[in-house]
Amino acid sequence: MKRSKIAGIGHYLPERIVTNADLMEVMDTTDEWIQERTGIRERRYGVKHEETTTTMAAHASRVACERAGITPEEIDFIVFATLSPDYYFPGCGVLLQRELGITRQEVGALDIRNQCSGFVYALSIADQFVKTGMYRNVLVVGSEMHSMGLDYSTRGRNVTVIFGDGAGAVILQPTDDPNRGVLTTKLHSNGTYAEKLAFINPGAHGGYHAKKAGESTEPFGYPPADTYGGIFITEKMIENGDYYPIMEGQFVFKMAVQKFPEVIHEALKEVGLTTNDLSMLIPHQANLRISQFVQKTLGLRDDQVWNNIQRYGNTTAASVPIALCEAWEAGKIKEGDLVCLAAFGSGFTWGSALIRW
Ligand code: ACO
Repeated sequence: MKRSKIAGIGHYLPERIVTNADLMEVMDTTDEWIQERTGIRERRYGVKHEETTTTMAAHASRVACERAGITPEEIDFIVFATLSPDYYFPGCGVLLQRELGITRQEVGALDIRNQCSGFVYALSIADQFVKTGMYRNVLVVGSEMHSMGLDYSTRGRNVTVIFGDGAGAVILQPTDDPNRGVLTTKLHSNGTYAEKLAFINPGAHGGYHAKKAGESTEPFGYPPADTYGGIFITEKMIENGDYYPIMEGQFVFKMAVQKFPEVIHEALKEVGLTTNDLSMLIPHQANLRISQFVQKTLGLRDDQVWNNIQRYGNTTAASVPIALCEAWEAGKIKEGDLVCLAAFGSGFTWGSALIRW
């Protein structure tokens, strides 16, 4: 079976820089608190009404195509990871197809809903399609326009200060070189803690999960009986502000610092390598403290780990391809290098990918 390789990579970041001081103007927070807890100094926000998750993805995809030496029309399959899609449905995959001007209907488009580990999941899926020979050019994208769905009041400060907008994309192609390409991918999930990091409303749950767990349905915006029956926002949800992401930060932190090293070791073990062989670890940019903890646990040097959360915040499904692209553009990833991508996030889901560049 052939391996898949990353033939082209691109990323896009909106121009508008939003500093911690900018956020201090709309909510009760401080630059010191944000930097100390997360490492973030600033993030980017897309232009409202002009940019979307799809348009940012299109920018990144065009660069990836160009670097792979193909036109968008040559793409066989699109795998699109995001938690901030333009529409509830259809997903961003088909919107990206249209945005890139791909008229061929032989192309398939798949949407991935795995939040922070979305890109690693998407890459793993694309890898299977390429390895089996089903597709030659698979576009794998992670893109997020978080700025359109955050709570900018003080109530939402624990979540809002962390996130930023951006997109990253790769073209995956088969390679004849037995020493190159995606060596392995590892995927995991544990739904026990689904609501520890979640965006619950609007949804079709009708309070079911909260009721089953014996919890109050209030924070889940359980709709009054007379309005029950679909995916909607009730007046009560608006009143309570129950249409924003929720996060139990410390719980997420503890899980993340445990699962990142586990899944990295798992991938390395499978191919008979160790952390000493790693040229570059690209961790999902969840929080600088998490990355530093993981680096320490794995005993990696500073030059073996790429961090850019200080400048872009957490861009969820986009963070891994943005960081990978930046590291590659900076000349820190060269042919023959062993690169590890790793992510952990809402679900919980987590995963890793080992690539011989
Ligand atoms: N500015 C100022 N004060 C704040 C802010 C803010 N932006 N947000 C919360 N606070 C306050 C709280 O209200 C609380 O005040 P209190 O003590 O008076 O009640 C105090 O700060 C401490 O709050 P905690 O939530 O306990 O703060 P913690 O030290 O845990 O830091 C953080 C919060 C940064 C979210 C941390 O828990 C964390 O890093 N968790 C990991 C989660 C993560 O990284 N998520 C990213 C997305 S998920 C992912 O990508 C894997």
